[in-house]
Amino acid sequence: MAEKLLEVNNLKKYFPVKAGIFKKTVAYVKAVDDVSFFVNKGETLGLVGESGCGKSTTGRTILRLLEATAGEVIFEGKDVLSLNKEDLRNIRRDMQIIFQDPYASLNPRMTVADIVGEPIDIHNLAKNKKERNEKVKDILERVGLGSEYMRRYPHEFSGGQRQRIGVARALAVDPKLIIADEPVSALDVSIQAQVINLLQDLQKDFGLTYLFIAHDLSVVKHISDRIAVMYLGKIVEMADKTELFDDPMHPYTQSLLSAIPEADPTKKKERIILEGDVPSPVDPPSGCRFHPRCPKAFDKCSVEEPVFKDYGDNHFAACHLLEE
Ligand SMILES: Nc1ncnc2c1ncn2[C@@H]1O[C@H](COP(=O)(O)OP(=O)(O)O)[C@@H](O)[C@H]1O
Ligand SMILES: [Mg+2]
Repeated sequence: MAEKLLEVNNLKKYFPVKAGIFKKTVAYVKAVDDVSFFVNKGETLGLVGESGCGKSTTGRTILRLLEATAGEVIFEGKDVLSLNKEDLRNIRRDMQIIFQDPYASLNPRMTVADIVGEPIDIHNLAKNKKERNEKVKDILERVGLGSEYMRRYPHEFSGGQRQRIGVARALAVDPKLIIADEPVSALDVSIQAQVINLLQDLQKDFGLTYLFIAHDLSVVKHISDRIAVMYLGKIVEMADKTELFDDPMHPYTQSLLSAIPEADPTKKKERIILEGDVPSPVDPPSGCRFHPRCPKAFDKCSVEEPVFKDYGDNHFAACHLLEE
């Protein structure tokens, strides 16, 4: 029986929109609107959706880099959202994040040794500077960077190398869960696979659990065990990876899949082109939020919100077409 490491229940994050001289709250950006999922120990859950769907906000709210509006985050049986400062500090060691932009996320004034060593200092994981630098050296080697880089600064590195520094920093405190927020999106395609392979190797060696965020299904294909598809603040489909790729149920997932180029030219693939952008999460569409862009929408879709249901073998989806 798989053991759950992280459980997210009915998570909501609404950002207030303020206006006028009194800065009154006039509306809310419903960035994450009732999201539930779990991640088992040692597995990778891919979280996918177009830009603006609420993926980063989900990740940041789990880590309490943002305070949730409602819901539950359970990590190893502990309710993360109600932890006090001290307990939160301890749990932060177990949950790390890797950011999308390896240019913006590393302090340009710090050496690589200090960037990777900082979390070791914060959590008092080394007796002295010498032991700390030994640790840093080991981790850097583990992510494919030699110790000769320790005294250098981030700007001296390529994008791929910088992301390795970001990975090393996350690994430095020996975490259990890593939330990787589009860790390869800013990198050249030729470099992306190297970083994904590295993350996979590290997962095996250190028994890591990943929540792997991407806007592109092809990126999460290899690394994920299961995939959750997010649209405008909600998860619309979730299934084992192979199941999701072979039998996508939600029209949104189908359109995302159709956007991936087919490697085999003998297989003809129908391209479903979505019209328009993701609507504003301030005033999301009625009924099914996807209905204004859905090529298969019918009357009911604009009126009633579809229920997220298990259609067998842990294949969940929320779509009225499936209920017919
Ligand atoms: N601090 C914030 N204040 C107000 N709105 C925000 C804030 N952060 C994100 N948003 C909005 O929340 C929505 C989801 O954003 P985000 O989680 O970054 O999506 P994704 O990571 O899927 O691209 C977007 O509409 C975004 O503009
Ligand atoms: Mg994001």
